[in-house]
Amino acid sequence: MSTPGFRMTITDDYEAMSAEACRIIADAIAEKPHIVIAFATGGTPTRMYEMLAEKYRAGEFRTNKMIAVKLDEWGGIPIDDPGTCETYLNKHVIWPLDIPDKHYLSFESNPANPISECTRIKNTLDNLGVIDICVLGLGANGHIGMNEPAGKLEPRPHVANLAESTRHHPMLKDSPAVSYGMTLGMEDILGAKKIIMLVNGAHKAPQLERLISGEISAQFPASYLRQHPDTLVIADKAAVGK
Ligand code: F6R
Repeated sequence: MSTPGFRMTITDDYEAMSAEACRIIADAIAEKPHIVIAFATGGTPTRMYEMLAEKYRAGEFRTNKMIAVKLDEWGGIPIDDPGTCETYLNKHVIWPLDIPDKHYLSFESNPANPISECTRIKNTLDNLGVIDICVLGLGANGHIGMNEPAGKLEPRPHVANLAESTRHHPMLKDSPAVSYGMTLGMEDILGAKKIIMLVNGAHKAPQLERLISGEISAQFPASYLRQHPDTLVIADKAAVGK
C-alpha cells in the first residue's frame, strides 16, 4: 500500500522529466529563500540541474540564503577526483548556483575517520532542521543515496557498505576503486518535507515497477518512499515501459 502523498508524473522523455522537476524546485526556491535542499548526483538529475542553472542565470530565483546538502559521497578517493559527488555537485549545482561554502554541507570523500565525518554531518543537519526537498535518483539495486539493500537500514548519516554493483556506478568509471560510501540515512531522507525522485530510461523500468508495486522492504530501500507523505516520482515513458 502507498500513502496518498506518494504520486507519480509520467513525462514523454528525459528532457521533459528534467523540465518538470526543475520547474518545481525553482518555484520552491523562489517561494522559500532559506530552503534546505539535499542533492543527489549521478546520471539522472544532470539535465535538471543544467535547467535549474539556466533559470538562476535568468534571474528567476535567488540562492543567497539557500542551503545545499550533499546526499552522499564515495569514500577513500581524493575530493577532486572526477568521480566524486563533490566534483559533480560543484560542477552542476554549487558553482552554477553561486552557493557559498558556508551554505554547503558536504561529506569529505577521504576523511581520516569516516565515522566521525558522518557524525559531523549528523550534528550539522540537526542544527539545520528539516530538509525541505530531497532530490533522489533510483539505484540499480533499489538504493536511495547510498542506503543499500540490507536486513536493517540505518536512520542517520553513516558509513555505507557498498554493494558490488554500486562500486561500479558509472560515475566511477575513471576513478580508483572505492571501498565504502557515506550517506544520509533513511530517516534523514524520509524526514524531508518533499522528496522528488527522478527515473528515466528503459533500464530503470524493472526497478521502478518494484518501487511502485513490490513489497515495502529493507531489501529495496526505495520502496519506503511509498510511505512518505509527499513524494513525487517523475519518470519518463521509457521507465514505465511505454
Ligand atoms: C548518487 C546517489 C545514487 C544515485 C543512483 C542512481 O548521489 O544518491 O543513489 O541516485 O545510484 O544513479 P544514476 O542516476 O546514475 O542512475
